[in-house]
Amino acid sequence: MVAEVLEHLEPARGGVFVDCTVGLGGHARALLEAGASRLIGLDRDPGALAAAAETLREYGDRVELVHGDYRRLDELLDARGIPAVDGVLADLGVSSMQLDQPGRGFSFKRDEPLDMRMDTTAGPTAADAIRDADERTLGGVIYEFGEERHARRIARAIVEGRMRAPVETTGRLAEIVRRAVPRRGYSRIDPATRTFQAIRIWVNRELEGLDAFLTQAVRRLCPGGRIVVITFHSLEDRIVKHTFRALQSGGETGLTIRTKRPVVPSEAEVERNSRARSAKLRAAERRTA
Ligand SMILES: C[S@@+](CC[C@H](N)C(=O)[O-])C[C@H]1O[C@@H](n2cnc3c(N)ncnc32)[C@H](O)[C@@H]1O
Repeated sequence: MVAEVLEHLEPARGGVFVDCTVGLGGHARALLEAGASRLIGLDRDPGALAAAAETLREYGDRVELVHGDYRRLDELLDARGIPAVDGVLADLGVSSMQLDQPGRGFSFKRDEPLDMRMDTTAGPTAADAIRDADERTLGGVIYEFGEERHARRIARAIVEGRMRAPVETTGRLAEIVRRAVPRRGYSRIDPATRTFQAIRIWVNRELEGLDAFLTQAVRRLCPGGRIVVITFHSLEDRIVKHTFRALQSGGETGLTIRTKRPVVPSEAEVERNSRARSAKLRAAERRTA
């Protein structure tokens, strides 16, 4: 949704922009191309930062790439002596590179170690998390983050499966889920899809602290500064909507919401990239004093 990001962030105004999820650097490049004077690109995936460095090489010292979690935005900007910024972008979730790159363990389309960490330098892998969680926790995760109605059945199958042998590969997890879910008719969607999404969100704690991050980001905006957030999950979108609303009435931050309803990608974009089908974009502007 590059055109929509540019429309709302208006980088042609110049100034400092933070891409909190720089990924492969596609949005960041568009911001720089359209006039952003300086861009700070954060990502918690060292592999993504290496790819972004390639994409953004030609912009030289207008770009600084930082390995870090956007939930530490204040600390990361303070360390660089940046008190206020003109625009913030957060394009949440997993990148196509993470999904498609062999060895990351995000996809059931290949059989490989069940890792799923965005930050490959820290935290338990999906295999560790599945080994240590009780059945109730697994069921809750799969139900809430995967919106999977067979969550309890799948959780039981995982626990029974791991008693036979540890669940350490994407292939094994997918197989357990596929066997646990009743098949009725033909579906284009693999029965393991929702469970894989849920485990990924859980392992990376994707919803934790999202509201606090958004509040930090809005407080860092200079008057007239803009924020754009793109989500891929209804729970994430709900957090963005409620946090923006709360900040709208907050006297100190004074936020004007620019998108009454979330903006969704055009049919042409969904046709080009099927993962975009669940994207929702919300934008807001910090009011001038
Ligand atoms: C959808 S992709 C962003 C794609 C990017 N806009 C582009 O143009 O290539 C999301 C990225 O956010 C990163 N990410 C997810 N959670 C993060 C967090 N808490 N802190 C920093 N980066 C995060 C992921 O590692 C991934 O690279």
